[in-house]
Amino acid sequence: MEKLKVAVLGLGTVGSGVPLILKEHQEKISLVTGVEIVVEQALVRDEAEKVDLAKHYDIQLTTDYQEILSNPEIQVVVELIGQIEPAKTYIIQALESGKHVVTANKDLLALHGKELVETANKHQRDLYYEAAVAGGIPILRTIANSLAADNITCVRGILNGTTNYMLTKMANEGWSYEQALDEAQALGFAESDPTNDVDGIDAAYKVAILTQFAFGMSIDLADIDKKGIRGMSSDDIQMAQQLGYIVKLLGSSKKTNGSVSAEVGPVLVPADHPLASVQNEMNAVYVQSSGVRESMYYGPGAGAKPTATSVVSDIITVAKNIRLGISGHMFNSYASETVLTKDEDIESKYYFSVNVEDKVGQFLKLTQIITEAGASIDQLIQQKSDGKQARIVAITHLMTKAQMAEVAKQINRVSEFELVASYQVWTD
Ligand SMILES: NC(=O)c1ccc[n+]([C@@H]2O[C@H](COP(=O)([O-])OP(=O)(O)OC[C@H]3O[C@@H](n4cnc5c(N)ncnc54)[C@H](OP(=O)(O)O)[C@@H]3O)[C@@H](O)[C@H]2O)c1
Repeated sequence: MEKLKVAVLGLGTVGSGVPLILKEHQEKISLVTGVEIVVEQALVRDEAEKVDLAKHYDIQLTTDYQEILSNPEIQVVVELIGQIEPAKTYIIQALESGKHVVTANKDLLALHGKELVETANKHQRDLYYEAAVAGGIPILRTIANSLAADNITCVRGILNGTTNYMLTKMANEGWSYEQALDEAQALGFAESDPTNDVDGIDAAYKVAILTQFAFGMSIDLADIDKKGIRGMSSDDIQMAQQLGYIVKLLGSSKKTNGSVSAEVGPVLVPADHPLASVQNEMNAVYVQSSGVRESMYYGPGAGAKPTATSVVSDIITVAKNIRLGISGHMFNSYASETVLTKDEDIESKYYFSVNVEDKVGQFLKLTQIITEAGASIDQLIQQKSDGKQARIVAITHLMTKAQMAEVAKQINRVSEFELVASYQVWTD
């Protein structure tokens, strides 16, 4: 059988899973593609470290990328180094050298996707990156292919396993934020610098890619409002539960009258909503559209095998395209002018909690602030008081993001008020 020779850049968690999946499912993959896909070469930083792995899968190791670029037998480069450089240069050089590219690099796709797609287009090469969003969940292919006939209105998802694990433990076990982070780090879910996860940056990368697929719009990372879970109080999580909600860090992208709003932030999801049942490090993407109406895609967002399986499915697509002579079509060809929704037009209900000095008239003062912003309250609860400090929790009716920003600004102006949390409440 004819061979399709592949080079893997980076034999780390995902990179070392690729030859494993190719070997485990070799027979099926050959039947589907009509070729035998083999990892011929791998770029590593330290050959000695990967020598056993290379021997096991009969892979030639190199520390010199030029060896891969100049090898005419390599048709596909699989970039699994991560981050921006040298990954970006390597991908561009591979495409320019006539090689197809598969990657799982969400950071790179979110920040430089347009340039990479243009380069692939120019050289009529394939560029696939299914694993960049939600690891093992085939969400990009589903949006690009299966939902192509549908009009998607909103995509919301649990896109970061680390923070979902932390929030699950805070809700179910009553752990503090610090306890949950320590445990996530001990289990290897969170890195020693957890910034990308807990500040919502990792989820924002995925939101940028999802926005491109769902709405054809290229949104800048700076235009995605990012609110993470750093320092979140378990009191708010418990309070939300008493009110019938589960707090989830959601990445969302919504289309309203031709414009799009994208954000990452904690959201109070009704306890009976399918997203509320997504526990621990699992991911899920919930799509609302006019045809199918509601669909949810659930699975592992990370891990060597799930992610490598997704990467190999991209290699299989490339192999099929080569065989059919249709290489060079874009992974997602939907493109539309990028128009951002104004904060005055983004509506949601909000949950917020405020620590106040415990004295008469505080409820009234808070109500006045909300009324003056043109908004109104659905529920107002005094949570606890130690005689000096009380905690007031409110859930508003529908209001705009601009109004909520004004309410937050005015609360912060009152010296005896401290705004602890302000989260969106799920609205359809
Ligand atoms: N892990 C997941 O579950 C997951 C899920 C979805 C997407 N992804 C994405 O998949 C990609 C790979 O992630 P990973 O978790 O596999 O990362 P990883 O475990 O850190 O592996 C990266 C590998 O690349 C190597 N490397 C780094 N720079 C290199 C260079 N200049 N030349 C050659 N090798 C180099 C590293 O070598 P050293 O060991 O010498 O540093 C390491 O072996 C990232 O883009 C990530 O965002 C990962």
